[in-house]
Amino acid sequence: RKDYHDILIESHGKVGLITLNRPKALNALSSHLFHEINSALEKYDEDPNISTIVITGNERAFAAGADIKEMVGKSFADVYKTAFLGHWGKINDIRKPVIAAVNGFALGGGCELAMSCDIIYAGEKAVFGQPEIKLGIIPGAGGTQRLVRAIGKSKAMEIVLSGRNFTAKEAEQWGLVSKVLPVDKVLDEAIKLGQEIASLSQPSIQAAKESINRAFELSLKEGCHFERKLFYSLFALKDKEEGIDAFVKKRDPKWTDE
Ligand code: CAA
Repeated sequence: RKDYHDILIESHGKVGLITLNRPKALNALSSHLFHEINSALEKYDEDPNISTIVITGNERAFAAGADIKEMVGKSFADVYKTAFLGHWGKINDIRKPVIAAVNGFALGGGCELAMSCDIIYAGEKAVFGQPEIKLGIIPGAGGTQRLVRAIGKSKAMEIVLSGRNFTAKEAEQWGLVSKVLPVDKVLDEAIKLGQEIASLSQPSIQAAKESINRAFELSLKEGCHFERKLFYSLFALKDKEEGIDAFVKKRDPKWTDE
């Protein structure tokens, strides 16, 4: 589509795919590129024909970070007054599930973008890391927060304070990514997962995502309370009757998303 310069978008059934496409800069996440990602995410979130979203890069890089060249010469006042990277938070408002299909470098902001997705599939050669410390800065798009929640304090400290990279296999062992796959299978499998999720009743999918995300914000007691209320609310859906009736009658459910 002509309306984007640094991303490609195409749908695979009900899965909306966003491919980062700034290969010469290893998909460095310039403000422009990120605004395009946000725009595509918002369009897919509003599109009734799309149920899940996949974000990917290419075999060399998912994304090698925020665009370092954009930071040259910027002062504290510049970044503070313009809320530099503020628009990176948009992805957290997307209601539909977002899956990251990661090959190659997922460094700095690239790792943070992947961690902002709901599920990460990684290729065997994927390389993760938060190397910002080597630039005299720190992660600025949730890296210190999401990494510690995903892999625990000691490993997160080791990675962020040393700037050392880690492998896809390590990321999987530590629980940051849910699957490691052959390089040429990552995107296909992410799309397949997206299609599987898209084949279910979407209000319950969105409720499940919302409830899991509350686990990062609330105490266990409050989180379980939130979950129970949401669980009750799903009993207002036709799809709840459909799903349970289909089970009882040993037939396949026909979802209407209502
Ligand atoms: N920003 C801007 N340009 C980048 C970039 C980045 N994050 N990463 C790579 N590029 C550019 C390079 O400048 C180079 O461009 P030129 O051909 O014009 O010189 C091109 O992409 C190819 O990169 P390399 O020649 O460096 O490729 P390589 O294979 O030798 O090395 C690499 C690959 C190890 C990933 C290396 O590019 C690298 O270290 N990149 C920077 C990684 C990094 O520090 N990321 C954190 C950024 S800060 C951040 O993200 C803040 C935040 O929390 C939001």
